[in-house]
Amino acid sequence: MSPLQVLCLPDTQLHAADLALRLGAPLQTLPDFERKTLKRLASSVSLALMVGEDVSLQTFQLPLPGPVRVDWTDGQTLWRLQHGGGRGEMLAKACGIKGDYLPWVVDATAGFGRDSLLLAWLGCRVTLLERSPVVQALLQDGWKRAQAEPLLAAALQRMELVFADSAAWLGSLAGDHRPEVVYLDPMFPTREKSAKVKVNMQVFHQAVGADPDAAGLLEPALRAAKKRVVVKRPRLAEPLAGREPSVVFEGESSRFDVYLAG
Ligand SMILES: C[S@@+](CC[C@H](N)C(=O)[O-])C[C@H]1O[C@@H](n2cnc3c(N)ncnc32)[C@H](O)[C@@H]1O
Repeated sequence: MSPLQVLCLPDTQLHAADLALRLGAPLQTLPDFERKTLKRLASSVSLALMVGEDVSLQTFQLPLPGPVRVDWTDGQTLWRLQHGGGRGEMLAKACGIKGDYLPWVVDATAGFGRDSLLLAWLGCRVTLLERSPVVQALLQDGWKRAQAEPLLAAALQRMELVFADSAAWLGSLAGDHRPEVVYLDPMFPTREKSAKVKVNMQVFHQAVGADPDAAGLLEPALRAAKKRVVVKRPRLAEPLAGREPSVVFEGESSRFDVYLAG
């Protein structure tokens, strides 16, 4: 069974062929993405990037979970931005956002970009770095959708997507052209509770795997950041690379370890 396939519809073949080439994955064209069509594939496909009107990830364990996509325009995300904690969110505090101090943040583990979006919404310039070609495809698709949402226009202008390995990218920064903050949120076993998030995380883990080299990001991040490095960890996990942070912001299930520069 191939670990990842690209599935497309007859009218999305061109875009899908390009993605399949980038991913080195086999491409299959289906007449539709109806559940009964997908269920028939369960014995031969375990994970697929589905290229239809949008780009999504689908696992094929029965019963089939819904497809997972990057969607910054869904009600939950927009509600969090408009009515959530804002500057009171732990992430914002950990990044040092205060008064008119709005740092340039490099999110070196962009994933689905939810944390980046919050920081950009609050007014920070945010560079999103992502190395997984599957996640890159999902992010690009989410970005396209977000451009049609007027509420996100200002935040999107402050965000840039960069598809690269963060250790190398951070290492290439020179002189004064460095962000104030580098943010790291490497993959970790599922830590959130709601059923919907669990499915999302399961699918995400299947596509990206763990980040076994995550500890190796701390040093380049510390060298690159002018002010601080912020690392998101499950509440009870060891600090990244076994290095004690300068300050900790602790929440119910996760915490933010802050390493002050200099
Ligand atoms: C847990 S997710 C981040 C979730 C993200 N904070 C969010 O709000 O959606 C971690 C992501 O970091 C990416 N990643 C891990 N190490 C990386 C590296 N060295 N360079 C670029 N991306 C990396 C993984 O591919 C994965 O997509």
